[in-house]
Amino acid sequence: MLEIKNLCYQVTGDEGELDILQDISLTVADHKFVVITGPNGGGKTTLAKAIMGLVQPTAGQILWNGMDLTGMSVTDRARAGVSYGFQQPPRFKGLRVRDLLTLAAGRDGLSKEECCQYLTRVGLCANDYIDREVDASLSGGEVKRIEIATILARNSGLMIFDEPEAGIDLWSFAKLTETFRAIHDQRGATLLVISHQERIIDLADEIIMVSGGRIAEQGPKEEIFPKILANTISGCSYMKEAAAQ
Ligand SMILES: Nc1ncnc2c1ncn2[C@@H]1O[C@H](COP(=O)(O)OP(=O)(O)OP(=O)(O)O)[C@@H](O)[C@H]1O
Ligand SMILES: [Mg+2]
Repeated sequence: MLEIKNLCYQVTGDEGELDILQDISLTVADHKFVVITGPNGGGKTTLAKAIMGLVQPTAGQILWNGMDLTGMSVTDRARAGVSYGFQQPPRFKGLRVRDLLTLAAGRDGLSKEECCQYLTRVGLCANDYIDREVDASLSGGEVKRIEIATILARNSGLMIFDEPEAGIDLWSFAKLTETFRAIHDQRGATLLVISHQERIIDLADEIIMVSGGRIAEQGPKEEIFPKILANTISGCSYMKEAAAQ
């Protein structure tokens, strides 16, 4: 179980203190599929990075299966079973796709077949990719998919994906939603997925809407999804017109 208690993240800018996350508390039960959504700049990525240890909160606590992660390093959190896929994944010049997958799987000698299984789940053909370097020669969508494959290879208890749909073509996106659905159906991991995509939101057990650094809405998909759609339609004249047609 993931428990976040009164999490705050404040930075000092030119105009004084800025609250990026304000008193965020939430609980995610084991094997749930939770989607975090909300407007740009709302604080979703910051929250995910705080869970992974990439930003250090100024107050509050993060517990994973009762273990206090708050002061732990990224490496120790990874060992404890937490993984995070960046909104914009980094590139690793000099490392091949096969190397990254092997590192993620945490054991030597990942076979070509095993690499292939992970890459297929994100819509990539192993033959074309396993010996490619993860450098600037790969497209944005390819890097994104390779990073998602490394998270699948890591097989953590808590998988956090930050806008997995970003830059991914429609066919691969369909493959990806199937993969998420399969992980969820097998109760293989707890999934925390940041997304704006209706088809991903639709897979969720629960939705958390983060806006202005706070939790604006939180609850079962059946309860929150209609509210999100209704708010969007009432708040935006273009969508109102589109809905009326
Ligand atoms: N170190 C920092 N200094 C100043 N502002 C920051 C810092 N880190 C984050 N922010 C600001 O905090 C807000 C939340 O950023 P965050 O990346 O978490 O948003 P997000 O919900 O993931 O948005 P998006 O949907 O665009 O990915 C943004 O306004 C961002 O500019
Ligand atoms: Mg973000």
